[in-house]
Amino acid sequence: MKAAVLVEANEPLRIEEVELDPPKAHEVRVRIAAAGVCRSDLHYMRGDAIIAKPAVLGHEGSAVVEEIGEGVTRVAPGDRVILSFVPFCGHCAACLGGRANLCDTHAATGPNMFDGTRRLHWNGRDLAHMGKVACFAEEAVVPETGCVKIAPDFPLPQAALIGCSVTTGLGSAMFSAKVEPGSSVAVIGCGGVGLNVVQGARLAGAGRIIAVDVNDAALEFATKFGATDTINARGADALKAVRALTGGGADYAFEAYGSSETITLAFDMARRGGTAIIVGLAPVDDFPSIDPVALVRQEKTLKGAYYGASRPAIDFQRMVDLYASGKIDVDSLITRTYALDQINEAYEELERGVVGRGVIAFL
Ligand SMILES: NC(=O)c1ccc[n+]([C@@H]2O[C@H](COP(=O)([O-])OP(=O)(O)OC[C@H]3O[C@@H](n4cnc5c(N)ncnc54)[C@H](O)[C@@H]3O)[C@@H](O)[C@H]2O)c1
Ligand SMILES: [Zn+2]
Ligand SMILES: [Zn+2]
Repeated sequence: MKAAVLVEANEPLRIEEVELDPPKAHEVRVRIAAAGVCRSDLHYMRGDAIIAKPAVLGHEGSAVVEEIGEGVTRVAPGDRVILSFVPFCGHCAACLGGRANLCDTHAATGPNMFDGTRRLHWNGRDLAHMGKVACFAEEAVVPETGCVKIAPDFPLPQAALIGCSVTTGLGSAMFSAKVEPGSSVAVIGCGGVGLNVVQGARLAGAGRIIAVDVNDAALEFATKFGATDTINARGADALKAVRALTGGGADYAFEAYGSSETITLAFDMARRGGTAIIVGLAPVDDFPSIDPVALVRQEKTLKGAYYGASRPAIDFQRMVDLYASGKIDVDSLITRTYALDQINEAYEELERGVVGRGVIAFL
């Protein structure tokens, strides 16, 4: 089968014929239907995040189950599924504490399957499976807990986005920050993830939702998802503007780009007693400067949100239901569709700053 292979950072992905083993016990082989073009993959391509190489990237995906390994009970061949880039072991402290997005066993095994081995091979070498998903490929073998069954008629591109940007964005607002009705929110970075923070804040009943970006088109797009105000950080002092609009700072300031500079900005934008929620992944070694006195005297909270502090096994279905009942817009998020062999072009466009989300369509 074909896969996009990352051989070295700062080289284009290579479309190669690779081998995929059958699923072992508690694993599932799936045919990929759609894969989202998320910035997290780009961090690995640019060397801003580290993964074992060669690797197959792709972590925002939907698929159809082809074959199940021994002992699999959660899905059956033919089922439509959303892939989760944090499959859960069910018995570690994080899983037992209700925080399956932080599964210790997944963290310890990384881009290998839970038994520490890999199913993907190329030219006699094993390939790393990003997030145990590796959906920039025609097929994948994933843990049973890395796929969540959805209705047979649920649209597959929209399902793929629920696998990362929708759940990450909505969850950051609803499950991590727990935005309250009437509160003020600032969102720095309005791409695939940030737009979902905006709609999560709208759904939670936020009063003012201030979108901050460096791209006017992204800001205009954000108003479609619920932004009440927009600030272009290139043309204005975004901190001053947010403080003026909120009377001192936002109750919740979200960072959804991934840099030390924007993380500092989110911290500074939070009001006295407010919370900064960091969603973007800054490059390795790019550390933000945080005013420690403001942290104390202003009792600010600085927190990270991984996968929107969600529990994919139950929260994907909530996202599906929010979409099905018209409470969130996933259709307009998908602004462009590519074939697998256009993947480098897809990432060039992401870097250039095209609005919304791109999707690699397989089926
Ligand atoms: N926490 C998680 O679980 C999780 C999940 C998915 C993605 N991420 C991370 O979230 C971040 C966003 O991902 P995405 O796919 O939405 O990216 P994206 O490229 O679609 O969007 C990024 C947005 O940030 C804007 N931007 C760039 N520089 C800026 C600046 N200085 N100030 C304000 N805005 C700026 C861009 O114009 C763009 O609109 C990435 O770092 C990604 O790795 C985290
Ligand atoms: Zn992602
Ligand atoms: Zn676990």
